[in-house]
Amino acid sequence: MIATVEWKDKKVRMIDQRKLPHKIEWYICRSYKDVIRAIKLMVIRGAPAIGIAGAMGLALGAFSIKTSSYEIFIKRLSEIKKEILLSRPTAVNLNWALERMMRLALSLKDRPVSEIKDVLFMESKKILEEDIELNKKIGEYGKDLVPDEATILTHCNAGSLATGGYGTALGVIRAAHEAGKKIKVIADETRPWLQGLRLTIFELMQDGIPVSVIVDSAAGYLMRSGKIDLIITGADRIAANGDVANKIGTYQLSIMAKEHNIPFYVAAPTSTIDPQIDSGDKIPIEYRGADEILKIGNRYIGPKDAEAINPVFDITPSTNISAIITEKGIIENPHENMKSFILKEENSWTR
Ligand code: MRU
Repeated sequence: MIATVEWKDKKVRMIDQRKLPHKIEWYICRSYKDVIRAIKLMVIRGAPAIGIAGAMGLALGAFSIKTSSYEIFIKRLSEIKKEILLSRPTAVNLNWALERMMRLALSLKDRPVSEIKDVLFMESKKILEEDIELNKKIGEYGKDLVPDEATILTHCNAGSLATGGYGTALGVIRAAHEAGKKIKVIADETRPWLQGLRLTIFELMQDGIPVSVIVDSAAGYLMRSGKIDLIITGADRIAANGDVANKIGTYQLSIMAKEHNIPFYVAAPTSTIDPQIDSGDKIPIEYRGADEILKIGNRYIGPKDAEAINPVFDITPSTNISAIITEKGIIENPHENMKSFILKEENSWTR
């Protein structure tokens, strides 16, 4: 699998996910403003990938600050951080990565500015490398939840393309496949951006994992017909009570899963947990433009001036989630166990 985002000659290059699967094109970011644009335009998407891009963007921003004064440097860096943070509101990984970079810069007060810039560059690389490792651990924990011959439903794309590599929900699926389990995947197409159809299917086909796509509205029928054994999705932000923000449509899947006694799992690194937010109802939900619904490709399907409501994430209450799979282990029944997990693990998180 090609790298979603990486440093190349001191520029950040991303695979342009808007063009996939038919064109593999690089989007080159020479400045932090280019990174902001890429995140807003969905060149790069998926919570962990946005976090990594944000960290690289801040490093690009640091290189652009022309001063040798530590105070002026930090002031400007923190303004750039605030600008990057505004690019997308729901995935908390962006804030997590930017905070980590900023804390590091603040801890280097006695070092020359030129050295701090290099340290930030290296830290953004580390965030990328660590993410791949974390996803492999999530996969290791999660694979035991997947029975042999299971058919797994997934929503949106929580794969390599949404992360530094390997994926969260798709990481669990990859690990189960690598362990020799004969699994099949059903991917929701995931209107309106079609991350399921364009990205999830593409990734799984490349790995030789059997996969079929369905329209989003077919999921209930297939669950009722006994054709789905479990559901695994990623997450954009997890509140302290275990509620999960993820791609629009996740909530309704969780309700149907409960109705049909199908286990519903969420796979995410602990950087997706936001202990500051006590309930999913307080997670900011991004709304995007009407054209994303009215158009398919470059063509209007509905009347051009029609109104549309386009929330792009929703909240799945923790009561609908069987377990959250993290790199630190599995939180069974998060409705009851999320708070104790946070208390136990928070100090050891790289925050
Ligand atoms: O709008 P997107 O494509 O950024 O939304 C992505 C999702 O909702 C993913 O499921 C989530 O970020 C987890 S990715 C490992």
